[in-house]
Amino acid sequence: MSVGIDDISFYTANFSLDLQELAANNGSDAAKYTVGIGQERMSVPGADEDVVTMAANACVPLLEGMAQRGEDANAINTILFATETGIDQSKAAGVYLHSLLKLNSRCRVVELKQACYSATAALQLATAWVARKPKEKVLVVASDIARYDRQTPGEATQGCGAVAIIVSANPRLVALDAETGIHTEDVMDFWRPNYRSTALVDGKYSTKVYLRCVRSAWQDFQQQSGLQFGDFDYFCYHLPFSRMAQKAHNHLANGNAHELSAQALEDQISSSLIYNRITGNSYTAAMYIGLISLLDNTAQDLAGKRVGFFSYGSGSVGEFFTGTLVVGYQDMLHQQSHQHMLASRKPLNYANYQQMYAFEVPTDGGDHAFAEQTNGKFRLAGISQHKRLYEVR
Ligand code: HMG
Repeated sequence: MSVGIDDISFYTANFSLDLQELAANNGSDAAKYTVGIGQERMSVPGADEDVVTMAANACVPLLEGMAQRGEDANAINTILFATETGIDQSKAAGVYLHSLLKLNSRCRVVELKQACYSATAALQLATAWVARKPKEKVLVVASDIARYDRQTPGEATQGCGAVAIIVSANPRLVALDAETGIHTEDVMDFWRPNYRSTALVDGKYSTKVYLRCVRSAWQDFQQQSGLQFGDFDYFCYHLPFSRMAQKAHNHLANGNAHELSAQALEDQISSSLIYNRITGNSYTAAMYIGLISLLDNTAQDLAGKRVGFFSYGSGSVGEFFTGTLVVGYQDMLHQQSHQHMLASRKPLNYANYQQMYAFEVPTDGGDHAFAEQTNGKFRLAGISQHKRLYEVR
C-alpha cells in the first residue's frame, strides 16, 4: 500500500500588485524585483479574506471532485491546519473551516505552527495516520498571508495563498516515501512576536540559513534513503521568492550533479516557479503551490517521475522528502480553475494597494461589516464582539 497526496488544489486572493508598480513608487529598480528576486506580482488579500476563507476556497475543488466521483466526504476524519497567520491564540482556524465545509462532527481538528514548515509536519503526520488507518482520509490545509512592514526589503516578497491536500492510501497523485531528511536549528532569521501583525526578518541572513538548512537536510536524507541527486527528475523548494529556489537548487547540485548543464538544472525546477512568480510568498502553502505549478504547467506525462521536496520554515526547521507521480495523475488536476482564478485577479495601482495594506480587522469589540471584495465562495463578512463572522456567497 502506498500513502500520499490523493488530490491538491490552491487558492489565492483576488487582487494583485505588479512589482513594477511597487518599484515605480518606492524608488527601486524594477529589475531588482523581476530579475534579482525573480518575482512579477504579488497577491493582496481583500478586507473580507483571511486564512480561513482562503483555506475554505482552496478546499472547494477537492470536495466537488469527491462529490462528482461519488466518494464519501465523511472519510475525512482529521483536519490539520498549518498557518503562521493565526486568527486566534486559542481556537484552531480549522474549526471554522470544518464548519464552513459542513464536514462530519466525527473529525479531529488542530492547528500547527512552525513558520513556513508546518504544512510539511502536517503532511508527515497525515501519512502516518493514514498508514495506520488506511480507510480514513486527512485534509491537510496550509494558508498564509505574508506581510512585512512597508518600505522594507521584505515588502516585495509579500503575497498570500492557501493549499488543500487530501492524504489517502493508494493516492492518485503523489506516492510519498517514508524516508525524510530533517534539520532543526535555533536561529533568528525571521519571526513575528504575538504583538505584531508584520514579520521581523534579517533578510540576507535568512537566505544564508535557508541554504545551510537545505544542505543539512539533504545530507540527512541521503543517509536515511541512500538516494542520490541523479535519482530525482524534479525538485520543489520552499518559495519565499523564485530566485531563492534557483539558488537552493544550484547550491544542492554543487558537488552532487557534475554531469548536469545549467539548463538541465533549471529544467528541474522552472515549472514549479511559475505560480509563485505571480502570487508571491504564501509561507506554509508556498512549496505546495510550487508542486501544483509543476503539475499544471508540464505538458509531458510525469507518471513515474521522482520529485524531491525541500520544505523550510524560519527559526528554523527544514525537511527534505520525496514522492513519485502516479499513473493517471492528470485526471486529478484542477489546472483550468487555477489558471482562471489567477487570470481573473484584479490589478491594483499603488494607491489602492496602500489602502488595502492599511486595513486591519478592528479590535474594539464593536460590530463591523466588511466590504464585499473577494470573488471566492467563502468570505469574512465582518466581526462582532470579537467574533469573526464568515459567510457563503
Ligand atoms: P534586498 O536588500 O531587497 O535585496 O533583500 P538585495 O540587495 O539582496 O538584492 C536582491 C538580489 O537582486 C541580489 O541578487 C541583487 O544582486 C539583485 P543576489 O546577490 O541575491 O543574487 N539586484 C538586481 N538584479 C538585477 N537588476 C537590478 C538589481 N538590483 C539588485 N537592478 C531579500 C532581498 C530577499 C533579503 C528581502 O526581500 C527580504 O528580506 N525578504 C524577506 C525574507 C525572505 O524572503 N527570506 C528568504 C529565506 S527565509 C524563508 O524562506 C522563510 C520565509 O518564507 C518565512 C517563514 O519560514 O515563515 C521568509
